[in-house]
Amino acid sequence: MKMGFTMGLNLLLLLAMVATNILSLYHLSSNIQQPNNLNPSSNPTQNQVPDYLIHQLQTIRATINHLTRHHNHHPEQQHSKPTSMPSDLILYSQLSPIASSCHNNPELLFTYMNYTPFTLCPLGSDDVVEALILRGCHPLPRRRCFSKTPQKPSSSSLPHNPFPAKLLDEVVMWKKYSSCKSFDCLSKLNPNMGFDMNNEVSNFLSYKSELDLPVPQLLQIAKAANSVIRLGLDIGGGTGTFAARMKLHNITVLTTTLNVVAPYTEAVALRGLVPLHVPLQQRFPIFDGVVDIVRCGRAINRWIPSATLEFLLFDVDRVLRSGGYLWLDHFFSKSVDLDKVFAPLIGKLGYRKVKWATASKTDSSGLKNGEVYLTALLQKPIPK
Ligand SMILES: *[C@@H]1O[C@H](CO)[C@@H](O)[C@H](O)[C@H]1NC(C)=O
Repeated sequence: MKMGFTMGLNLLLLLAMVATNILSLYHLSSNIQQPNNLNPSSNPTQNQVPDYLIHQLQTIRATINHLTRHHNHHPEQQHSKPTSMPSDLILYSQLSPIASSCHNNPELLFTYMNYTPFTLCPLGSDDVVEALILRGCHPLPRRRCFSKTPQKPSSSSLPHNPFPAKLLDEVVMWKKYSSCKSFDCLSKLNPNMGFDMNNEVSNFLSYKSELDLPVPQLLQIAKAANSVIRLGLDIGGGTGTFAARMKLHNITVLTTTLNVVAPYTEAVALRGLVPLHVPLQQRFPIFDGVVDIVRCGRAINRWIPSATLEFLLFDVDRVLRSGGYLWLDHFFSKSVDLDKVFAPLIGKLGYRKVKWATASKTDSSGLKNGEVYLTALLQKPIPK
């Protein structure tokens, strides 16, 4: 009886996982946002997803809640009634369920924690790590096993130059990655992935359109405003090229990056830069008011639900010092959404517009969806 019940619960959790994934797919394929999305009481997914899916998801959620309550042996841990919960907590739980994102993926979490202490960690557990973090299960519990470490690089030195002629292949465990087994292969696969150093060395230097903000110009703007830039954060920074460029100016930039499909984190570290392995929905592991500049690269775009983006931007505000800069670099969205959703959202921060440039996104998907780019440099006000 007990076993049947547990199996039923697992089946439901599985169903919930599938349904959640379907929802995220809908998010990715169409993000027709309406201005009233900004209203915290409205569910941001409801405008885009067929009603029957929403209904199914609600049923599954309600069932899980019901079962979880029945399962709970500690009455003091029971969820209090939603009415007594802060409304932001309710909203955030919908966007990125706190801790329950681990709880909602029991198969992955069990696989991750299934190891023999004091021995080598199981092969393939890196895939599980990435999968869990992407689903919002972060931070992960600690384990007492040895991660397989690549051999010591044969060449005498790891490069100090953040733009080495070539990235060392030996320091990557290529087994984890199916598409390529070398950095060379990755740069040939797609030169824009950030692994081709010959390509990267010219990034952040040229001014081809109003959307560009070359690093020398950025530093000039800061200097003219009597603002010092020493410490930065690059959100979704790929292989760390912004940090690399800033390092040449003796500026320290941390790069958040994930290892989806390719060894981005290893590439950042290989360049002597600091990779932070955190997903977009996580609070930045940085204290309040200490960072001079935050850059949001192409990972920040219209595919992020606007309510989630709002939380992200307010966390950016938290880590920025007053007078610090927020740089939205080629943020893309549908033209209508920029006016109705994203510009007002960014406006909530109350930052000074140092630069605000928009232009049509002219690639095929940009043309098809009527998308535009926004590049903005915004300065956090100094408290009165
Ligand atoms: C960076 O620091 C080094 C060592 O202090 C110095 O020699 C160099 O001129 C600095 N570079 C820049 C661009 O400020």
